[in-house]
Amino acid sequence: MTAQGRPRVGLIGCGNISEAYLTAGYNEVQFTACADLDADRAAKTAAAHTLDAMSVDDLLANPTIDVVCNLTVPQAHAEVSLAAVQAGKHVYQEKPLALDRTGGALLLKGAEDSRTRVGCAPDTFLGAGMQTCRKLIDEGAIGAPVSAMANMVFRGHEYWHPDPGFYYLRGGGPLFDMGPYYLTALVNLLGPVARVAAASPEPSTTRLVRSGPRKGHQLPVEVPTHVAGLLEFATGAVATIVLSFDVWASQLPKLEIHGTEGSLSLPDPNTFGGPVGLARWGSEGWEDVPTDHFSLHRRGVGLADMVGSIEHGRPHRASASLAYHVLEVMIGLTESAAQGCYIETSSDFERPEAMPAAGTQRREAVERRPDVDAT
Ligand SMILES: NC(=O)c1ccc[n+]([C@@H]2O[C@H](COP(=O)([O-])OP(=O)(O)OC[C@H]3O[C@@H](n4cnc5c(N)ncnc54)[C@H](O)[C@@H]3O)[C@@H](O)[C@H]2O)c1
Repeated sequence: MTAQGRPRVGLIGCGNISEAYLTAGYNEVQFTACADLDADRAAKTAAAHTLDAMSVDDLLANPTIDVVCNLTVPQAHAEVSLAAVQAGKHVYQEKPLALDRTGGALLLKGAEDSRTRVGCAPDTFLGAGMQTCRKLIDEGAIGAPVSAMANMVFRGHEYWHPDPGFYYLRGGGPLFDMGPYYLTALVNLLGPVARVAAASPEPSTTRLVRSGPRKGHQLPVEVPTHVAGLLEFATGAVATIVLSFDVWASQLPKLEIHGTEGSLSLPDPNTFGGPVGLARWGSEGWEDVPTDHFSLHRRGVGLADMVGSIEHGRPHRASASLAYHVLEVMIGLTESAAQGCYIETSSDFERPEAMPAAGTQRREAVERRPDVDAT
């Protein structure tokens, strides 16, 4: 703990996304150390953010660190997080929770045994845009949700990421990489999924890196790069979802939910804000719904919420059980595409409590430092 009684956070995985976490500026989150398989990266990150660089083993053994923020590649998530909970640390990690059901279940069991918490990205569903949609749905603005349509289609990460290989290995692909944003948004709004079906065309065996230091390299492809899925929710609502790294350009809406009393146009689930549109039965056109009822958070709010929840003894929102359910849906979609049949889910999760309204002084609210802008 720091002198202010705040848990100390150690970061593992000093890559592309680490800067967003390190500069998010949540009062709850006090980073003190960092580690990476690549010691030079850890040293550079430590120097830039006044942290102690150390090995992964030393970070996990360090008694001053209470929480691990695991920003490694998907293939290492479950292993690193399991080692952290077994070392008695709480963990918040990037998505996906794990690559398979066994890895996810072992992590949940490890956390239960060591009485530690596991939180998992994405946390975009805690942003002002999705929380406004949650409020509208909970208040019955569109009546009972009947259907949803989700589309995440673009040309792939080889056009921008400096080291995009992991996006095409097991644990990557549009389903495991981007699916968590869309699926977490959907289950937070509509509840658990009961069964899924999907189809995927055969992917090309390699992808050419188009930018950055690895430009010109051919990347091996282990996963489907286009997934067309169907989700049946426990409520009876049905969603179609298309996730693709094989689309050059598209004008499809990212996410819509349609109910017995109206339709909702939602923001990009990979953002924290974004426009919200509402069309009610009986009136023509769309009304813009303001989102400023909620604070405009950024990446890291899930970590801040988890750290704050430990302090205040309440459940954290971006929970391991929510992430496990999303993992099960993604595995089900993969298995359905391979086998040509419906796959049922068996997990459930505690629906995360809605975020408090902006400006309310509830003790549980996550607090941003006033010196950090909201962009
Ligand atoms: N880059 C983004 O914009 C972005 C956005 C949201 C989420 N994410 C997720 O964040 C995670 C990291 O993404 P990134 O873009 O920063 O990747 P990256 O490849 O840039 O960085 C990953 C880092 O983890 C380190 N690492 C890998 N295995 C490790 C292990 N076992 N122990 C210690 N260090 C290890 C690597 O050496 C590397 O420095 C991924 O799960 C990704 O899906 C990335």
